[in-house]
Order: sequence, then structure tokens, then C-alpha cells
Amino acid sequence: MKVYLFKDHADTSEYAAKVLIDQLKTRPNSVLGLATGSTPIELYQLLIKAFQDHEISFQDVITFNLDEYLGIPADHPQSYARFMHEQLFSSIDIRKHSVHIPNGTSQDPDQVGRAYEEAIRQAGGIDLQVLGLGNNGHIGFNEPDEELQNYTHATHLTQETRQANARFFGSIEDVPTDAITMGMGTILRAGKIVLLASGEHKADAVQKTVEGGISTRIPASLLQLHPDVLVLVDRAAGSKLNPDSYEVR
Ligand code: GLP
Repeated sequence: MKVYLFKDHADTSEYAAKVLIDQLKTRPNSVLGLATGSTPIELYQLLIKAFQDHEISFQDVITFNLDEYLGIPADHPQSYARFMHEQLFSSIDIRKHSVHIPNGTSQDPDQVGRAYEEAIRQAGGIDLQVLGLGNNGHIGFNEPDEELQNYTHATHLTQETRQANARFFGSIEDVPTDAITMGMGTILRAGKIVLLASGEHKADAVQKTVEGGISTRIPASLLQLHPDVLVLVDRAAGSKLNPDSYEVR
């Protein structure tokens, strides 16, 4: 894992944007894995700016999002489909059929998971996967557990995650109890992974992800097994890391 510490979230996002822009310049038909949550919003704004400045195009890009809530329609204000449309897709030139987000309204999420894996395989695999980090160390919606899943699957959300996401819904009762998410293997099969974290509330999860043992109780710690992971954190999120061990940018 390469870990870079930045002054603040703006600098973290700017570096992440550079990585993605370089990726798209080198390989305009890249397959990107994308994340939702508040963390990547600034990154997406910088990608939109790079598109508007004619630096990059998404014409030939294919995207796969990490996850989606189960049981809310795509046009629900808090669906990840709607989030992606509002935060990125509606402002860039990506083709509609190149966007993939697991269908959260299907009666057969297992089939959705299988089809999702097949679509990723047919696209040639994910070149670069963007990740946020749950307060409890989850990535996508792979929650801490005794066992983790390899492939895209339906999953039950922990109370902690529903609480963390209640801020978007108004109350915890309104947060869906289940979701569909890429599995750990789906994520680990990406060619390159960029994990972003910001804020003090992520400091514990960042420390365990980077410096702790590899454990299914901290799903992000499995990223230590991947040969090309970039961990980009601001000072607050990196505050529990050993400061002498990492590059300060
Ligand atoms: C959510 C998403 C994750 C995201 C994480 C952090 O529950 N499923 O993909 O990375 O939690 O969210 P945020 O960036 O808002 O802190």
C-alpha cells in the first residue's frame, strides 16, 4: 500500500483527480469502479471540470458502481443511482449504456449479482477502482463479519452503517436495511485501487486498514493483499497513523 497524507480534503481530492485524469489520458476506454458517499464528491467535481476544460472525455469509459441500497427505486433521492447521476454522470459525456449500478429493486438480487460480475468480466475487468471507507472499515457495503463474500451479493447493513448514513435520510428508520454490493474479490480484482478517507471519524478505520492485521472484521484491511493500492487521506483521517512512516504531501 502506498499511503499519502494531505493537508486537507481538497488536496486529497485534487491528487485523486490527477490519478484518474492520468488514467483516462493514458487509456481513454478505461473501466472505472466508482464509489458514492460524501468523500468522492469533490473528486467528481474536479473530473467534471477536467471534462469541461476538454482535458478528458468519458465517451469510451465504462463504469461500475460499488453498491446500491435494496428496496428503493433508482429515482429515490437517496439511491446511489440518483447520487451518481447528480454528482457526475449528468455533467459528463458518458454513454448511458456504459454506466452500471446494481439494480436495487430486483426481486432476485442473486441474479443481479451474477449478471453484474458477468458484465464486469465482459468489459475486461476494472482498471481503476475508487473507494471510500466506512467508519467501521467497510468498503462498498462489505461489512465487518466472520466471513466476507467474493462476488457481488446482497447484504444486510450493520446498525452502525445505517446510523452513519441516517444523515442523508433524515432518520435511521428510513435507511434501507439491505444493499447489494461488489464483493471483496470484485474489488481486489481491479488493476489499481484508490482509497480516499477524510475526517477524524475515519482515523481509527484508516489506522486499522493500513497498520492493523488483515482481518474480515476490517474489510478494508484485505486491501493490504493487493499489489497496487493508493491510500489518500487528509491529516485528520491519518491522525492515528505513525507519522514517520508515510509520505506527507
Ligand atoms: C457508504 C458506502 C461506501 C462509502 C462509505 C463512506 O455506506 N456504501 O461505499 O465509501 O459508506 O461514506 P462517506 O464517504 O459518506 O463517509
